[in-house]
Amino acid sequence: MDPLHLRAAGTSVLVAFHSGEVEIVHWGADLGDSLPDLDLLTPPIPHSALDVPVIAGLLPQSSSGWPGRPGLRGSRLALSGTAGGGAHDGAVPGFAFSPALRVVSAEATPGGRGARIVQADPDAGVQVISELTLHSGGLLELSHELANTGTTPYCLDELGTVLPVPGEAVELLDLTGRWCRENHPQRHRVGQGTWVRSGRHGRTGHDSSLLLAAGSAGFSNRAGRVWAVHFAWSGNHEQYLDSLADGRRTLGAAELLGPGEVVLAPGEAYRTPTLYAAFSDRGLDGITEAFYAWFRARPSHVGTTAGRVRPVVLNTWEAVYFDHRLEPLLELAESAAELGVERFVLDDGWFRGRRDDHAGLGDWYVDETVWPEGLTPLIERVTGLGMEFGLWVEPEMVNLDSDVARAHPDWIVRPTAAAAADGGRLPLEWRHQHILDLANPDAWQYTYDRLDALLGENDIAYLKWDQNRDLTEHGHAGRPSVHEQTLAAYRLFDALRAAHPHVEIESCSSGGARVDLGILARTDRVWASDCNDALERQTIQRWTQAVLPPELVGAHVGPTHSHTTGRVHDISFRAITALFGHFGLEWDIRQATPAERETLRRAIALYKRHRGLIHSGVRINADLGEPNLRLHGVVSQSGTEGLFAAVSLGTLMAEAPGRVAVPGLDPERTYRVRAALPTPEDADWADSFTQTAPPRWIAAGATASGRFLAEVGLPLPILRPEHALLIEAKVTEQSVSD
Ligand code: GLA
Repeated sequence: MDPLHLRAAGTSVLVAFHSGEVEIVHWGADLGDSLPDLDLLTPPIPHSALDVPVIAGLLPQSSSGWPGRPGLRGSRLALSGTAGGGAHDGAVPGFAFSPALRVVSAEATPGGRGARIVQADPDAGVQVISELTLHSGGLLELSHELANTGTTPYCLDELGTVLPVPGEAVELLDLTGRWCRENHPQRHRVGQGTWVRSGRHGRTGHDSSLLLAAGSAGFSNRAGRVWAVHFAWSGNHEQYLDSLADGRRTLGAAELLGPGEVVLAPGEAYRTPTLYAAFSDRGLDGITEAFYAWFRARPSHVGTTAGRVRPVVLNTWEAVYFDHRLEPLLELAESAAELGVERFVLDDGWFRGRRDDHAGLGDWYVDETVWPEGLTPLIERVTGLGMEFGLWVEPEMVNLDSDVARAHPDWIVRPTAAAAADGGRLPLEWRHQHILDLANPDAWQYTYDRLDALLGENDIAYLKWDQNRDLTEHGHAGRPSVHEQTLAAYRLFDALRAAHPHVEIESCSSGGARVDLGILARTDRVWASDCNDALERQTIQRWTQAVLPPELVGAHVGPTHSHTTGRVHDISFRAITALFGHFGLEWDIRQATPAERETLRRAIALYKRHRGLIHSGVRINADLGEPNLRLHGVVSQSGTEGLFAAVSLGTLMAEAPGRVAVPGLDPERTYRVRAALPTPEDADWADSFTQTAPPRWIAAGATASGRFLAEVGLPLPILRPEHALLIEAKVTEQSVSD
């Protein structure tokens, strides 16, 4: 069979076939038109080794001699029902612990950007169909579907999506975190062995690695060669870098299945979640560009490129928490509208029995004691003020103190097959809540019907869809069922979206515990973190946005005194931080001082002026020497304008930051740069800097070429710790006509 060569945006994927097997021999830089004779790739055979060259198959397998983590693990053994209670005294029909998959067919998909490869082992009774697509922006998509072609049930332990990376990839960067500290990077040198990131939370997890990136020594934001993967799945999973003694390396991911969780009857199939992968020869920003291009080309994408502008949000959570009273909420809505807010989101606390977080989950009826006339008086005022109305829900959960739990105890997830009445125990509580078993069709239907009714009966433009606990000991009928629960939750999103296509949905999970491309196939933004502290948000957003474009990442200006960290930040730092996302407020703005309100008003106007740019442009993260200084921003695709934030995360080593490179603008064009926030009109202007005089350009702006700004830079003012400066750059008239 001839090799398949996929090419896009500086990336090549070369799939070759030898001796009936299939191998990705290259995923990396573009190889151009002409390919050599692939015999040139045959490796030497060392002493004390297999007598044939070992292939890193598309599904690495032991039958080809692959000594690393296999791509497929499964068997019929556990289910064979052999006599003797586990004694190994009889043949197991169709026993297949080590399949030997051989290529049946391979074809390029129309347009030449994809490949569909079928492999099978008829003796083992398995067939695997693999699909690869290289999207126009350079993002590679890979998934497999395994079918049981045997005559007995097949118990699947793991089906992995794996890609090769070269020996040059000697450093690994992955992300981790916890509640209120999601997506923080960790880095180390790659040695021999396997680096595994396991997620057993039953949801994506606060500590999940949104990106697993291997790269050349010292790769940075804008330099070095990087290979990175993301696994699009919201349940249990593992991501890994396998570095073998023979020098080969793979990056991979697989759903983490429990014992007996996926048992395929003859003819049944299992599909892996999709692995998304990008290569860059210009550091992490190149990886980000490939992901953004893919997101923005989706028909369902919200944001500027799709003509769906992201409205300014006010969320009530850190403003009123569970204190739902109509009059104060009407005041809040009026105060928000007066500032220019465009969407008002009523958070947790509106449904039956929900006076705090001990009760009510599952009873998706408006609480008549708090809202005697329903939500209508609030919704009508909100929409009358020109804003959209949004509502918080947590459909996958249930409190024991709820009508639904009392009526249907069998709808609550348990680790054993026994019902409650028969002593079936419950998993431990988490935030006083349990999980509704969506694999139970009645429970699923009830939840669908309630949400469908709420959306049908009220003028709701947006749902904040929360999921606030790990799925521990998650079983259905006595078997692990995170897999089934995840698919059932996906079906719930999909069905509601199909019935209410104009309702936008946010994925929230105690902040950012369900942020992945699986959930984003059915939602329109994520809540990156419950932490609204701007300092923490600088890091959380930088790394969330390594994969997700800013229009999908909710970012709110929180209260002056952060509720989750206790830090106090000036308004301009909070506003500049939230500007580089889907901007909103989450604060009782009735308490803001008149000066804070004025800066907030200016920030909202700035967001409205620049959201088209922020939500469609190229993301820039400069490489700076000062560990506590950051410069990030966005440049329009046409290169005519840029918006940057210079941010001090703490005290600087140097007395002054000096000239700081502003990369990403067109080197051949001339730009006018000016400081946009804070300005001398803002209350926190004086507090933001520690200097006797700012650099001259701050007062009146300055003109420089993109080349000069990138190579020589801008002298920054001396920002106080935990302050920021917003900088606008716009092509000069003269440069535009050049
Ligand atoms: C979770 C969310 C918060 C808020 C609360 C409400 O913690 O992450 O933003 O909605 O639930 O209970």
